[in-house]
Amino acid sequence: MTEKIFSKPILKSAARRSRQSVHVTDFSLSPHYQELGKGKKYTIQTYGCQGNEADSEKISGLLELIGFTKAPSEAEADLLVFNTCAIRANAENKVFGELGRVKQYKEQRPDLIIAVGGCMPQEEVVVEKILKTYHQVDIVFGTHNLHRLPDYLASVMSGVPQVVDVWSEEGSIVEHLPTVRANGAKAWVNIMFGCDEFCTYCIVPYARGKERSRRPEDIIAEVIELASRGYREVTLLGQNVNSYGLDFVDRDYRFADLLAELRLLPIPRIRFTTSHPKDFSQFLIDVLSQGGNLMPSIHLPVQSGSDRILKAMNRKYTKDQYLDLVQRIRTAIPGVSLTTDLIVGFPGETEADFQETLELVERAEFEGAYTFVFSPRAGTPAASLPDATPKAEKMERLYRLNDRINAGFSRGNARFLGQTVDVLVDGASKTKSDILSGYTPHNKLVNFPGSPELIGTIVPVHLVRAKTWSLDGEVALER
Ligand code: SAH
Ligand code: SF4
Ligand code: F3S
Repeated sequence: MTEKIFSKPILKSAARRSRQSVHVTDFSLSPHYQELGKGKKYTIQTYGCQGNEADSEKISGLLELIGFTKAPSEAEADLLVFNTCAIRANAENKVFGELGRVKQYKEQRPDLIIAVGGCMPQEEVVVEKILKTYHQVDIVFGTHNLHRLPDYLASVMSGVPQVVDVWSEEGSIVEHLPTVRANGAKAWVNIMFGCDEFCTYCIVPYARGKERSRRPEDIIAEVIELASRGYREVTLLGQNVNSYGLDFVDRDYRFADLLAELRLLPIPRIRFTTSHPKDFSQFLIDVLSQGGNLMPSIHLPVQSGSDRILKAMNRKYTKDQYLDLVQRIRTAIPGVSLTTDLIVGFPGETEADFQETLELVERAEFEGAYTFVFSPRAGTPAASLPDATPKAEKMERLYRLNDRINAGFSRGNARFLGQTVDVLVDGASKTKSDILSGYTPHNKLVNFPGSPELIGTIVPVHLVRAKTWSLDGEVALER
């Protein structure tokens, strides 16, 4: 039997943005699949952003709905799922390395199923490479059709050697997908899918399709349900949450409206990621300034401090506009913690451009950042720009930038020394089981001695030591 290819990705189609309104459908499982995974075990490896973490929880939900259970190790699994990320070449290389590594299991156990999903299969070059070289892979699916995984598993289990189904255009929003959440106190809540920004370096708009917002009533119902199950924190997810609602044809309702409603719900903490600076409205700042369960920590990716490079990146703001926004946020939300994303070595970036970035980092007083070296992504406009800066020079810029960022990280922790703050306890330290760790409202990592019963609760902790990456504390008896 030959491979069964339903559809391969086409980058050009993925760049298209239809004006059609977004359909919302409810997930339902075909009765044929109810026992498909009975007695079988799976593992899932997740790469990339929180959006992928949330998708993996849905993939797990689907698998467990059809009878699969989590395998304690790959050696005992009947199905290995890789939920992949395409953002930079090194993210992709890791996955190819892993696919090579798990080939041995397939040789030992020919019935083992290997499935690759997520953002990598949305790229033409990746699917071609898998078809040519990685014959151990049984199923290739994308970001738009993860709810179809039971169909693909059924095909492979009935003898089809390889199934490839990647959609280049988004389908409906599928509500009520089963979800197995990885954490009992903190939950991801998608508020929108896709991205329409087309920053010139970025593959996400191709891999995730057009911006589609979930209806507010569906989001609110999900948060109410999470609160009633004892969840303490939700993180609202979107590639640019600030353009939430722009696609609604039946209402005028934006991200700030959503937050204004969510802040009234009995969920102790609300976070969101990611905000594009260009759409951060004054209305949004006003709502955030009301505080309460809206956490005083904002991730606001700036990418570069050079206007020339920002323009070439298609970011649609200048350094001064960004700094003005930072100022307005800081005035409205005193003590807010700001973090960012930065790319060094974008094609054509000079030392002078890089100096502008360093200056912006100082002035914005970031308390953390994810920093990256530009990685050309096939099919994106920036990948074909001339790029004369040697790799070593880019690396050297990255190190200089990281030094500044680390200093900001340290200062951001030190400013809380001596205070008593609420910590949502995540778990016990890997090395010392009697040391708990969790995060403050400002998203600072805190370690403190305590009993495991505190995991998943919010505890007042007195902070006694500040380090670069974390703070140490002691449970406070009174506030
Ligand atoms: N939607 C988010 C970012 C998602 S990707 C936002 O715009 O805020 C996370 C980060 O990866 C980006 O902010 C950017 O800093 C980095 N990134 C994206 N594409 C990249 C590329 N081709 N090379 C290097 N870094 C990249
Ligand atoms: Fe990529 Fe820009 Fe969209 Fe963020 S906003 S996902 S960086 S295209
Ligand atoms: Fe990676 Fe896709 Fe997220 S490319 S960063 S997993 S949207």
